[in-house]
Amino acid sequence: MKFEFENPTHLVFGAGRLSQIGEIVSKHGKKALLVTGGGSVKRNRTFERAVSSLNAAGVTVVECSGVEPNPRLSSVMRGAEIARNEGCDIVIGMGGGSTMDAAKVMAAAVNYEGDPWEMIAHGQSNWRLPTSALPIITVPTLAATGSEMNGGAVITNEKTTVKSFVIAKCLYPRVAIVDPELTLSVPQDQTAFGICDLITHVTESYFNGADGTPLQDRFAEGVILTAMEWGPKAVADGNNLEARAQVQWASVVALNGWVQVGTAGAFPVHMIEHVLSAHHDIAHGAGLSVVNPAWMRFAAQTRPARFAQFAQRIFGLSLKHPDDRDAAMEGIDRFEAFLHSIGCPTRLSQLEIGDALLERYAQDTVHVIHDGEGRLPGRPPMSEKDIIEILRSAL
Ligand SMILES: [Fe+2]
Repeated sequence: MKFEFENPTHLVFGAGRLSQIGEIVSKHGKKALLVTGGGSVKRNRTFERAVSSLNAAGVTVVECSGVEPNPRLSSVMRGAEIARNEGCDIVIGMGGGSTMDAAKVMAAAVNYEGDPWEMIAHGQSNWRLPTSALPIITVPTLAATGSEMNGGAVITNEKTTVKSFVIAKCLYPRVAIVDPELTLSVPQDQTAFGICDLITHVTESYFNGADGTPLQDRFAEGVILTAMEWGPKAVADGNNLEARAQVQWASVVALNGWVQVGTAGAFPVHMIEHVLSAHHDIAHGAGLSVVNPAWMRFAAQTRPARFAQFAQRIFGLSLKHPDDRDAAMEGIDRFEAFLHSIGCPTRLSQLEIGDALLERYAQDTVHVIHDGEGRLPGRPPMSEKDIIEILRSAL
């Protein structure tokens, strides 16, 4: 194992921490672009509380509201324009993953010469990563994405229907204010989708990473088991603050880099799902809930021992031998049943997605990221034909 690791984001975690936002932000800037989504933060007064704390600390607020789910490039450009015109010196992303991702890219777009899509278009010929950004503060209101404490963002170019990603050092937030009280009003379905998203963040590296990472395996299993223990409690009773806190902490850990250190894993399930949500505007976690089990059944054919380990350690199944395919498949069935039990979809038909565009989804997936042979990276690498097969099995 050879790796380097750094996560510069200062994490402020715990119920009630939103009240410190003014004091925290004032250390990094005086005029904040406050980026929000569809309005839930106004309905539940999170917005009002944040603004009064910011103003009391001498921070002026400029609003950029209305970032949509599956955030669009046009929203990023709109926010960057506001920040530039108003002379903002800090950007706050307050909302779900879409809002935080858009806020991060707005912060980089303010200083970026040329078309901001060039920083998103991962691996394409005109790809230019951003090297600087305004200081970023994240305030997640949903436990799911992990964007609050990493340097990544996913943006959709609505003109081309391409959804792609950027990962850059300058996109790490200075501070993540993670207050589980802000998630109490998240509806049941979005809570469940968030749980699926956070689990998928660790299954990606667990199943696609390098061999010989026993400590990382245990970290990933710890996140999955914690999410499976506390997730259903948060779904059953949205006001269960302890369950909300455990799920939110799991979501932060799942994608702040620590679980993935040294595994060098690809994220094929995410890559396939991004194409589905770019075309159909479905919730990211709902798409993952359909794609992940279908992908697992495909990948288990070439690597049964890995999936047998998952079955044994997550569901307590006993193995006849390390390559026990029956146990591997049983583990995947049980994982899918868990997702179903918390209210996640497990078939494309539940998302009203049919078979008309299967080839297009596969083409778009490998367009965003591919190896030298045109395959989607992962274990195993997948051809367009393989992706079609996976999606067909999930119809
Ligand atoms: Fe995700």
